This record gives sequence, C-alpha cells and structure tokens, in this order.
Amino acid sequence: MTNIRICLAGATGWAGSALSRGIFEAPDMELVAAISRSHAGQVLGEVISVAGLTTPIFATAADALITKPDVFVEYTKPDVAISNILSALRSGAHVVVGTSGLTEADYREINDVAQAVQRGVLAVGNFAITAVLLQKFAEMAAQYISHWEIIDYTHADKKDAPSGTARELANRLSKIREAQLDVPLDSIDGPKESRGVRLHGSQIHSVRLPGYIISVDAIFGMPDQKLILRHESGSSAEPYVSGALLAIRKVSQLVGVQRGLDSVMDF
Ligand SMILES: NC(=O)c1ccc[n+]([C@@H]2O[C@H](COP(=O)([O-])OP(=O)(O)OC[C@H]3O[C@@H](n4cnc5c(N)ncnc54)[C@H](OP(=O)(O)O)[C@@H]3O)[C@@H](O)[C@H]2O)c1
Repeated sequence: MTNIRICLAGATGWAGSALSRGIFEAPDMELVAAISRSHAGQVLGEVISVAGLTTPIFATAADALITKPDVFVEYTKPDVAISNILSALRSGAHVVVGTSGLTEADYREINDVAQAVQRGVLAVGNFAITAVLLQKFAEMAAQYISHWEIIDYTHADKKDAPSGTARELANRLSKIREAQLDVPLDSIDGPKESRGVRLHGSQIHSVRLPGYIISVDAIFGMPDQKLILRHESGSSAEPYVSGALLAIRKVSQLVGVQRGLDSVMDF
C-alpha cells in the first residue's frame, strides 16, 4: 500500500506542528508539503525541531499544491481557509478541515465544489475524542430534553466566536430539534445580546478571558433538574492529533462535505 501524501496548511502553528509530528511518525503517511507565510522556503523539521522531517514549506496553497497531495489538511485561519480548501479540491485532493470559524454558507460553497469534483471534505470542529463524545452525549440528551444552551470559553485572544466546537455542536443538535425558548428573543426586557447568539436553533454564549484554554458546556434543563455536559481541553495540541490522523485516513472514502469525526468512527 502506498503512503497517503499530505499537504498541511498551518504546519508551523500550535495545532499544525503537533499534527506535523504525528504525520511524520505515522507509518502510512508522507508529509509532502507544508504551508506557512513566515517560514516559506525553509524545511519544516528545522522550524519545528523534528530531526529528519525534510518537508518543504511554501507560502501559499497554490505553490504547495504543485506537490499533488492526496489529502490537504487546512489548519490556518478562516480568512484564508476557504480559498485553500477550494484550490485543494480543484487540484484533486481530498480535504480535512480543522480550522474553525467557517460559516454554513462557506460549507455549502465547499460542498458544491467537492460534489462537482467528486472529492471528500471532512470538517471537524474538535478532533479530541472527549469532544466527540460530548457531541454524542449531547445528541442523546437533546432527544429527551427540549431546553438547552451552550457556553463556550476560550483564551481572550481567540478572534472567531462562537468556537468551532460550539458551532459544530449547535449544528448537530439542530438535526434533532431546536432548543425551546420560553421567552422569545424579541420579548425580552433588556438587551437581546444578554441571551447570547441564536445559531442553528441553540443559544450560544462565548466567554473570552485570560486563564481559559478551550472548553464548552452544553446545559440541558428540565423542571427541577439539569444535566451539564462539559468538555475541557488542556494546554497541548496533542489530543487533536490522533483524531486528525483518523480523518486523513478516512476522507478519501467520502464525496462532498461531512461534518464531525464520529461520522467516520465506529460507535
Ligand atoms: N479542529 C480542531 O480540533 C482544532 C484544534 C485546534 C485548533 N483548531 C483551529 O485550527 C486553526 C489554527 O489554530 P492554531 O492555534 O494552530 O493557530 P496558530 O498557532 O496561529 O497557527 C496558524 C498556522 O497557520 C499559518 N497561517 C495563518 N494564516 C495563513 C495564511 N494566510 N497563509 C498561510 N498560512 C497561514 C501560520 O503560519 P504563518 O503565520 O507563518 O503564515 C501557522 O502555521 C484555528 O482556526 C483553530 O481554532 C482546531
């Protein structure tokens, strides 16, 4: 069996450098190209201190795609992610999306292109197995409990809000039903913003403070009882690596956009 040839956009970043090491150590994968503007022209192993990792770094996806990867992994920022993903699909690669902040409209556009070129896109708001389990448990809860709200907590300098984890959770719960609001948003006495944003039928509140890393609460309420599901990430990007490797191995079996890691896991 030949190795999966991978191009990783954001290979020098916090999440991307951990994944670069994971790909380098995987027996069935080859990291053929990396993307980072500030380290273009350098060798990835020297930048992230991995001996023997000779992957060249390119400034743009257009340059990196000359290496003809089988799978393109997007781990940069939402402003550049869309054009990276569309370029990768048009070049014939399947795409794994780790970048957060893409909208539903973005995913509709990506799906149209992926369908047209018959390639798969696996978009995962959080590759950590514990976060995947939170989504599964929340889906179970939403079948029985009609009222819930989501709170996402991250470090103060995270620009995109709500977090990818919270967006994906809301999106998945919307497939079951919309969260019930006993007081409609336009009947609130006071600023509507105090009730957070309504996204995919869930109220989401985003807290951005120093001291937090990334966590999310899904709070389900019933008369005289409540269920609080909480996911907390630690400070390293290690928990995201095995999930991203699984996504890379599975994405070529898909056509079009698929959301969530559990769609390719055996539960
Ligand atoms: N799905 C998940 O499980 C998961 C887990 C962790 C993080 N994330 C998401 O992944 C994304 C990256 O997070 P991070 O913390 O690793 O960010 P980061 O440390 O700031 O790294 C960003 C990486 O992207 C590159 N980059 C940024 N803009 C670029 C551009 N315009 N062109 C080319 N390269 C560009 C950066 O290199 P240069 O600056 O040199 O270009 C760097 O390598 C975020 O959206 C984050 O929310 C998702």
